[in-house]
Amino acid sequence: MLRAICDVEVNPQDEVLSHEELLEKVKGRDAVLCLLTDTIDEEIIKAGSDLKIIANYAVGYDNVDVACATKHGIWVSNTPGVLTDTTADMAWALLFAVARRIPEADRFTRARKFKAWSATLLLGGDVYGKTLGIIGAGRIGTAVAMRASGFNMRVLYADVRANRELEREIGAEWVDVDTLLRQSDFVSIHVPLMPETRHLIGRRSLAMMKPTAYLINTSRGTVIDEAALANALRDKTIAGAGLDVFEEEPKINPALLELDNVVITPHIASGSVETRTKMATMAAENVLAALNGRTPPNAVNRI
Ligand code: DGY
Repeated sequence: MLRAICDVEVNPQDEVLSHEELLEKVKGRDAVLCLLTDTIDEEIIKAGSDLKIIANYAVGYDNVDVACATKHGIWVSNTPGVLTDTTADMAWALLFAVARRIPEADRFTRARKFKAWSATLLLGGDVYGKTLGIIGAGRIGTAVAMRASGFNMRVLYADVRANRELEREIGAEWVDVDTLLRQSDFVSIHVPLMPETRHLIGRRSLAMMKPTAYLINTSRGTVIDEAALANALRDKTIAGAGLDVFEEEPKINPALLELDNVVITPHIASGSVETRTKMATMAAENVLAALNGRTPPNAVNRI
């Protein structure tokens, strides 16, 4: 799509460009189509003085200094909607994986430790009929919540605004975060990373959760204080966690790697062939719109 009208330079390595490389590469470009691993800060924006658009290949855009881009008259766009269901599926995959101890059971079986059926082997927690708490009931949080009706679950949600669709469709209850943490058997996080959501879940919140509860995160790692979570998992303050995102990706807190009651995946929640293709198409459409002098369909700022 882009090559039809632009000179395109693609990072040939499947590796993140350094800040210095990015600084060089944005010079003289009309558009940058970047990944969530590219930090587009003030320095990069200033170096890209010809930029018309920064098209992020992700729905989250905490890696882009949007205020600075806006000040310089540059569009910023994201890829909303197309990854909602794929990400919701992954939140459920993590939820089941940790509650029913699937990765642990897989490791056990592969190690040829399965000698006989046992009444107490690898016991997990039930999912059906339990209470699911959704923190952040936007597009993805709503899609995760909707799936809970298939498992006959009570759904609580915490958000700055009411989600009447969720209440009407599945009888979800709007509660404050503390109530949600105290009453839920599964807590799934779906807030964007902003100053207000940084370390939203820390020692205090973890202490409020039931010792039998599980925490799922497919949003951004920094929403959780990872060191506090590792302590809570080690001390069995909560039963387990399913994490697709981490505070300092790709680094993972070594304490988490030691624990069996956490399932960890490398930020792949939107990673289906279909969805990644749609995200790429959407990002390219945003670039083309900006280069043709139109408002990008998924602009997150106004210039
Ligand atoms: C996003 O889009 O923000 C995800 O983290 C990656 O798909």
